[in-house]
Amino acid sequence: MKKSLIYIVSIIFFIVLCSQVNAEVAGNCANCHTMHNSQSGSDMATYGGTSGNNPCLTRGDCIGCHAYDTSGTDNVVNIDGSLVPQVWHNGTKDLAAGNFKYIASNDNDRKGHNVAAIDPEDTAAMFGTNGAPGAENALGITAANFSCAGKYGCHGDRAVTDEIISVKGAHHADDGTIDGMSTGTSYRFLKGVLGLENTNTPWQNISPTDHNEYKGINGPDTTSSTTTPANATISGLCGECHGYYHGTNTTETGGTTSPWIRHPTDFSLPSIGEYASYTTYSIVAPVARTDVSAVSDTVNPGGTTDDIVMCLSCHGAHATNFYKLMRWEYDSTTLATALEGCNVCHTSKN
Ligand code: HEC
Ligand code: HEC
Ligand code: HEC
Ligand code: HEC
Ligand code: HEC
Repeated sequence: MKKSLIYIVSIIFFIVLCSQVNAEVAGNCANCHTMHNSQSGSDMATYGGTSGNNPCLTRGDCIGCHAYDTSGTDNVVNIDGSLVPQVWHNGTKDLAAGNFKYIASNDNDRKGHNVAAIDPEDTAAMFGTNGAPGAENALGITAANFSCAGKYGCHGDRAVTDEIISVKGAHHADDGTIDGMSTGTSYRFLKGVLGLENTNTPWQNISPTDHNEYKGINGPDTTSSTTTPANATISGLCGECHGYYHGTNTTETGGTTSPWIRHPTDFSLPSIGEYASYTTYSIVAPVARTDVSAVSDTVNPGGTTDDIVMCLSCHGAHATNFYKLMRWEYDSTTLATALEGCNVCHTSKN
């Protein structure tokens, strides 16, 4: 009797321990999967208003789970204990990448990435000749195929064409260590990208002390291929599709120092002049770091390690409420509003 009690207690202890060290999906299989897509004759794969059977037997597709209730206000939906981050919801607290609600009507196409599952962009010109503005290589991305993941999207293994196959296994992977080696162990399933996923307030950037940490490096780099981010940085990921905005090429950025011909990224703040005043991390215009092992509210301009300009210093990732996916209203007619983010670094320009 006593022996079996110890046995039971140790099993419970083991289960609790496992669920704490791993950050993968949690909850009953039935919260997310359906074996036959039928229960008492009714369909079960209906998440987010989707219909039809899904690969990997899930109860919705990417958008079905991650835009579960677009008129609801929850930025994280709780399905019987399984927490699902919401990339499109009607609340005011957008997740760190933004909120696709801003592009969900045709008037707002310029506020974000118009993935086809949410709102197929009807202006072919926005994709340019190579599939995205500033694309160095032919991407093959069109209004009709622009996806969340895979070859025509951002998440997953971009060497794999199919959206679901490109992330397969990631949701159940132990992502306790982000090493960029697989989709599941990459920052936010962006294969090859490093970073620190906020565990305090998951999927959100809240304050200087409560935010994700983004990987950067001091030295602009052209070596992003279409499937591998240069130096495992977040800007390198953007460079997979917008390579000309992330390079050392003299014809594109002007080289590696001032004067620039495109705004630098993966470049450390100078320790002198106006930049020296950016010392407290800003969630309006955040910086990337070479070391992403801990969340910090400190920035040391000229330190070359924790003070790096990145694409996400100025842009959101999914969609924001501002023109060109900016983090603030750069096209405002009120100067202070327009400069809100620029001023975080260019502290003397106002
Ligand atoms: C909170 C949602 C969620 C729960 C709960 C969940 N899964 Fe999954 N599972 C997914 C998603 C999403 C995918 C497809 C994408 C992927 O593989 O990353 C998936 C894929 C899979 C796959 C194929 C990929 C792989 O890892 O081999 C298997 C098998 C699987 N799940 C089994 C299970 C079982 C068994 C349970 C219950 C113990 C379970 N899942 C619970 C979301 C969930
Ligand atoms: C059945 C529901 C379901 C489906 C389908 C699903 N997801 Fe998820 N997804 C989840 C849940 C639950 C989490 C949170 C747990 C986690 O981080 O793995 C999550 C987390 C994520 C994350 C954040 C990972 C992190 O590091 O925090 C990304 C990115 C993501 N999913 C992308 C996708 C893409 C792309 C697809 C389609 C190919 C997809 N998901 C399909 C349920 C789903
Ligand atoms: C898979 C390729 C791909 C990746 C990776 C990618 N983008 Fe894009 N981006 C596109 C495409 C395609 C467009 C044009 C279509 C559109 O705007 O919806 C675009 C457009 C944009 C626009 C203009 C938006 C508009 O509506 O005018 C901005 C800004 C942008 N991307 C920033 C980024 C940033 C920042 C990153 C990295 C976090 C990034 N992109 C990563 C493909 C990509
Ligand atoms: C995260 C910090 C950061 C933000 C935000 C930022 N910049 Fe910069 N900017 C820099 C750094 C660092 C340089 C390069 C300075 C150098 O090389 O001496 C730079 C360079 C420039 C240059 C070129 C200067 C030269 O010497 O060639 C211009 C112009 C500029 N920024 C304008 C802007 C504007 C406008 C905004 C807002 C839309 C902005 N920046 C936002 C950090 C930032
Ligand atoms: C200093 C702020 C800043 C940084 C850093 C920055 N951008 Fe931009 N980006 C802008 C602004 C402002 C615009 C609007 C057009 C303009 O002023 O050039 C823009 C426009 C864009 C566009 C739309 C181009 C078009 O044809 O409409 C894309 C795509 C883009 N940025 C991607 C990136 C990528 C990728 C990175 C990192 C490699 C990046 N941006 C870094 C501020 C920035």
